[in-house]
Amino acid sequence: MTHATSETATAIMRANDRGGYTVPTAGLYPYQWNWDSAFAALGFAAFDRDRAWRELETIFEGQWADGMAPHIIFRNHDPSYFPGPDIWGSNTEPPSSGHSQPPVVAIVARWLVETGDREDLRRAHALFPKLMAWHGWWHRERDPGETGLVAIIHPWESGRDNCPDWDAGMDRITIPDDLGAYHRRDTDWVAADQRPTHETYDRYLTMVKFGRECGWDHKRIYRDGPFLMADPCVQFVLMRADRDLAVLAERFEDDAARRTIADWIARDIEGAQALWNDAAGGFVAREMRTGALVDAITNASMLAFFGGAGTRAQQAELADQARQILDLCRFGFPSWDPRRPGFEQRRYWRGPVWSVMNWMIAGGLDGAGHADLAARIRHDTRALVRQSGFFEYFDPLTGDGLGGPDFTWTAAIDLALEHEFGTAAAA
Ligand code: GLC
Repeated sequence: MTHATSETATAIMRANDRGGYTVPTAGLYPYQWNWDSAFAALGFAAFDRDRAWRELETIFEGQWADGMAPHIIFRNHDPSYFPGPDIWGSNTEPPSSGHSQPPVVAIVARWLVETGDREDLRRAHALFPKLMAWHGWWHRERDPGETGLVAIIHPWESGRDNCPDWDAGMDRITIPDDLGAYHRRDTDWVAADQRPTHETYDRYLTMVKFGRECGWDHKRIYRDGPFLMADPCVQFVLMRADRDLAVLAERFEDDAARRTIADWIARDIEGAQALWNDAAGGFVAREMRTGALVDAITNASMLAFFGGAGTRAQQAELADQARQILDLCRFGFPSWDPRRPGFEQRRYWRGPVWSVMNWMIAGGLDGAGHADLAARIRHDTRALVRQSGFFEYFDPLTGDGLGGPDFTWTAAIDLALEHEFGTAAAA
């Protein structure tokens, strides 16, 4: 059985390969997505390390002059996706979206180096300045006050599009009269009850309109934009990626980079504390303009272990919450706490399970001494695929496969788990 799924996973990755980059799934997502490609590289490493590096390298073909690596690179015109390059209006070459996505690349690059040889070191070295520029962009543009808390300007930037985490920020958005009519394409491919609602989409496009109209001036968007929240996923992925970048800087004996990264990490640790919510028993999202904390645990909360955030007591509390939530689900880890209002077992990031989050959560739990929880989450991740196939996401109560089929990152993570590709414990 394992052998059969691994052949299918490899075939899916090959079928989604567009030559140097993969699409997440044909039809629904026909372009290159940033963190999808980072996870795809992990899958390629199971059978073609050169291709793994290509996937990471092509992410930076879209890097902006200010260091930002955009969340989508529009490499060819494909009318089956909305919103396309004309709506983003970022005027870059290649065309791209106007904001970023969780910076997973350094994590995978470090892992490739540590499991590889001199060729891996060489490719990581070539990528290193680009990674430094991207991490620097996050710390500069998304934390101008140097508090250590990094913000996002659109829920899409979190990679967890319609999680109830964003409801507080979304509620503050007024939809302008001149937003214009548009035709969503996602619901041509996937049932509407598994996708964000129309009201949610209007707000997404309001944020894109603001960015486009100010020429994607990120200082201005941070200050005056319609949406500004802090995300435990971005915060902890960046924190982990900073730690992994520090390990690479050490390997390259780059003292200047080491000092810069050490400052970033000290700030990451400090900033994470602004996401702790005692009542929820975990790290949660925060609305930046009011300071209000969300009151529920998500799969992003569980990335604290991966980032190496929190005190011993906070981590113990979080592990306890993880156990309680897992006991309520047939398959973990759900994207929203099932004990809270707003849980929808089939709707995208409002309940379903996502393989990539599970891979990071399990890696963090292992490093923090919770091997039992890590094993349970890894087991569930593979069991979902065996039961339902390589879907985009899964129902935590039934295991049904949801969203797009033959999904690159689900295939990549299945391969990574089969080959026991973990990550080293947080430095
Ligand atoms: C959805 C997901 C996002 C992912 C993209 C492509 O927008 O929420 O995380 O990167 O699809 O798979």
